[in-house]
Amino acid sequence: MRFRIAAVGRLRRWGAVLPLLALLAAGACSPEQYPQTALRPISDYGRIGDDIQTTTLLWAIGVFILVEGALLYAVFRFRGKPTDPEPRQIHGNTTVEIIWTVIPALILAAIAVPTVRGIFETNAVPSGDALKIEVIGHQWWWEFRYPDLNITTANEVHIPVGQTASFHMSTADVVHSFWPPRFAGKRDVFPNRETRLWFKAEEAGEYPGQCAEFCGIQHGRMAFRVKAQTAEEFQGWVAHMQSLGAKPAAAAAPAPDSVQTASAGAKVQGPQQGAAAKDSATAAKPQAAPADPAYAAGEKLFMAKGCVGCHSLQAVNAPKGMIGPNLANVGARSFIGAGSFKNTDENLARWIQDPQAMKKGVLMPNLGVTPDEAKSLVAFLRAHK
Ligand code: CUA
Repeated sequence: MRFRIAAVGRLRRWGAVLPLLALLAAGACSPEQYPQTALRPISDYGRIGDDIQTTTLLWAIGVFILVEGALLYAVFRFRGKPTDPEPRQIHGNTTVEIIWTVIPALILAAIAVPTVRGIFETNAVPSGDALKIEVIGHQWWWEFRYPDLNITTANEVHIPVGQTASFHMSTADVVHSFWPPRFAGKRDVFPNRETRLWFKAEEAGEYPGQCAEFCGIQHGRMAFRVKAQTAEEFQGWVAHMQSLGAKPAAAAAPAPDSVQTASAGAKVQGPQQGAAAKDSATAAKPQAAPADPAYAAGEKLFMAKGCVGCHSLQAVNAPKGMIGPNLANVGARSFIGAGSFKNTDENLARWIQDPQAMKKGVLMPNLGVTPDEAKSLVAFLRAHK
């Protein structure tokens, strides 16, 4: 009876521990469930850090097995009985002390060598044809500028697989930390000082990144996406971005109402152009973007509500020092609010009407936009793909 109670107790104890072990195993094995894992690297830089971690872990496992093994052996082999006399007392043993000092020193050296090598490797200036990307941290979003390609975007950084992306980073306000966990370690960004980070992506896909330095109340919603694309896809994206927002000569003249809009000259894809192409065989319909009344109303509102004061719609020659994220391709992004909310029409409309409810403290104020106005603004922004 007593045995059965003990067995049930043991089972209960393991019952609590097993799910925890399973969870730990899943954490290491499933990037789907835990997408911000650094344990499944998909870049050269990520692999360097992961290799050092694996080396350290193997040493730690070896030490654990040896020490615990010796301990358990001593416990069982030399177990005393209550009737035993007091054992002989010894004090100090120079040989043993030298051994247990030298062995850990050697183990630490074995860990230090690859660690220091990794530090030098990851801090080296990347050689070859690296793609330069400027990263500027803002409370609470990320600006990405490609100086050699003359394009700018926000919160979703596109990189080509197989080519080193070299990030030159700074901040517009406080200290942030740029962290794309599947690709590289954290690197702080500072005002008036450039920090650098580089890596070569090995797998195409969309991966999350996160600000990793507390930077204010919305630090947790200062995320970003890394969109790693094949070389051809990336070239296509660059060409597309370069076709957005290049101001034609005519746009240099003031608009008829004497107000220059950020979208002047911006080339956008109408929300129904795809449908127009499909329908063109059967019937000719007025489908062009500016003819869409919601789009036209949205364009006016973008100016009238003051959106234009903080957001640029220019991907090419984008102005520097803007307060809000660049919106040149906002319609095509996966998330809004710096990786915080899925980029659906519903979320975008909610955001435009009440950003403070979705991301309290964000610099974008509530502008008194009505639901109808929000719908028009969504139609306008969605066309900027
Ligand atoms: Cu930016 Cu935390």
